[in-house]
Amino acid sequence: MTKTILRALAGETLDTPPIWMMRQAGRYLPEYRATRAEAGDFLSLCYNPDLATEVTLQPIRRYGFDAAILFADILLLPQALGADLWFVTGEGPRLSTVTGPDDLAKLKGVDDIHETLGPIYQTVRNLSGALPAETTLIGFAGAPWTVATYMIAGRGTPDQAPAHALKAEDRATFEALLDLLTKGTIEYLSRQIEAGAEVVKIFDSWAGSLSGEDFRKYALEPAREITAALKARHPGIPVIAFPREAGNGYVGFHAATGADCVAVDDSVDAAWVAEKVQPGGCVQGNLASRHMVTGGDDLVSEVRRIRDALSNGPHIFNLGHGITPDADPENVTLMIETLREK
Ligand code: CP3
Repeated sequence: MTKTILRALAGETLDTPPIWMMRQAGRYLPEYRATRAEAGDFLSLCYNPDLATEVTLQPIRRYGFDAAILFADILLLPQALGADLWFVTGEGPRLSTVTGPDDLAKLKGVDDIHETLGPIYQTVRNLSGALPAETTLIGFAGAPWTVATYMIAGRGTPDQAPAHALKAEDRATFEALLDLLTKGTIEYLSRQIEAGAEVVKIFDSWAGSLSGEDFRKYALEPAREITAALKARHPGIPVIAFPREAGNGYVGFHAATGADCVAVDDSVDAAWVAEKVQPGGCVQGNLASRHMVTGGDDLVSEVRRIRDALSNGPHIFNLGHGITPDADPENVTLMIETLREK
């Protein structure tokens, strides 16, 4: 029998939607913190196939999610392209910056990324042999715009101002960087698929800061190009796009990009998503992550409301963004039990 996530991605409406959770392997789980301590730091964990396999499997063992997502990070691609990358505890990522043509010229070509990323492909191979038969393996990458915002600023930014500034002041460098990332993402995801990923997801966490023509050129168009190239090389591979906080930009995103599923954040209402986005294909989302911290009756009623609002079309249940480190693991159990109660 086909796996539930693959059925939903193929357009089937299921009685109970399949479920997984963004950042399901993460610091809210004591077993994750233990393995991360064993690895030493986050990047060492990403590049250790045995330990990365272990943390990917932890939430599957604990909760029986319908999908496992490869344990890695969207910033490994810039590192493979030659950027320096490190994580400052309690603050987040830091990278060497790309602010002009000289920085861009120092980066490697897309065919040179695989040496660095080899351990990631090994993790995917390990997982495709280790997962339960009913669990779907999801590979992923960052979308070019989101990855570029980190490369240009050298860190996370609340408003992506440095990336918007480069776009305004040196559009040629900005567009060449996006093009390099688009081509690199195609090669990176293609290798993940060859290693055993059954679905790929493109995370455009900062898509919401692009509007109008910029949204079309720098969020929609790269997603279309990546999806088309992957489907040409790997016919039938399902693609989930996540143009986070796109708002009205979610409408028509399936058709414009060829993505099989559009993941939505929790700033849009599930009933609106059912009416405006789900006719285009499968949708994924969109419980607010804070319910994993607060739990209780609010969690139960929100899970039911979202499940029922999206029950007339293909739906994969998920959070609207990643689970946070202060979440209570018991609330994840409550979310899953509530979803599957009927
Ligand atoms: O979802 C999963 O469980 C799979 C693994 C995964 C991670 N990051 C592991 C991680 C995935 C899919 C990502 C995606 C990612 N990484 C995104 C896009 C999704 C989103 O959240 O918007 C972004 C923007 C990043 C970049 C990144 N990585 C930041 C900004 C940070 C620091 C902030 C934070 O949450 O700590 C990371 C670190 C990171 N990536 C952690 C994990 C489990 C925490 C590292 C730790 O153990 O300290």
